[in-house]
Amino acid sequence: MKGKFITFEGIEGCGKSTQIKLLCEYLERKGIPFLSTREPGGTTIAEAIRRVILDPATPEMLPETELLLYSASRAQHTGELILPAIAKGKMVISDRYYDSTYAYQGAARKLNTDFIDVLTRFATFGLQPHLTILLDLPAEEGLARIRERSLDRLEQEALSFHQKVREQFLVIAKKQQYRYLVLDASKAPEDLHRAVLKALELV
Ligand code: TMP
Repeated sequence: MKGKFITFEGIEGCGKSTQIKLLCEYLERKGIPFLSTREPGGTTIAEAIRRVILDPATPEMLPETELLLYSASRAQHTGELILPAIAKGKMVISDRYYDSTYAYQGAARKLNTDFIDVLTRFATFGLQPHLTILLDLPAEEGLARIRERSLDRLEQEALSFHQKVREQFLVIAKKQQYRYLVLDASKAPEDLHRAVLKALELV
């Protein structure tokens, strides 16, 4: 898994952050070089774009603007941070990558998938995850888990929006089985962690 690119995907409240934290603690203990990052974000410019995208005070943002901002964030993140880290032989772990764009902006916002294909190739420099772990959970359960938080612009969307996101992740996972591991996110965090380590051939 040296120099490999691992992504975590799933709806809000699916437990990505917990699994990424457990994985990073494991890699730290084993002395395996890695970089943990997130989308949108990961670099100074991409984190600034993140603040603009997720600001709950701007509900007027158009889907088109949203798609371009996620892509801009991805281009900077990939070119500045991810590709150089992979080149140095680090395992790169990203909380979300382009599958989120197909699920949120493609399926839920109904933007043109052919256009997203073109933008994605451009913004990723052709990089694809070696392994994507989907933490699958019904939208109702995910939203119930984040009820106590102050919600960002996307988290505030209706249940039907998050249901479309979940369905699209499952469609992508089925089509691209060669790089996908789908886990039932309602399972205990320790069980999920073990499954992640197994998929990464660390145990
Ligand atoms: P997070 O809450 O998992 O940090 O993700 C930020 C939000 O951005 C989340 O609601 C999913 C959304 N998102 C997209 O809509 N498209 C994308 O391409 C990415 C990376 C995230």
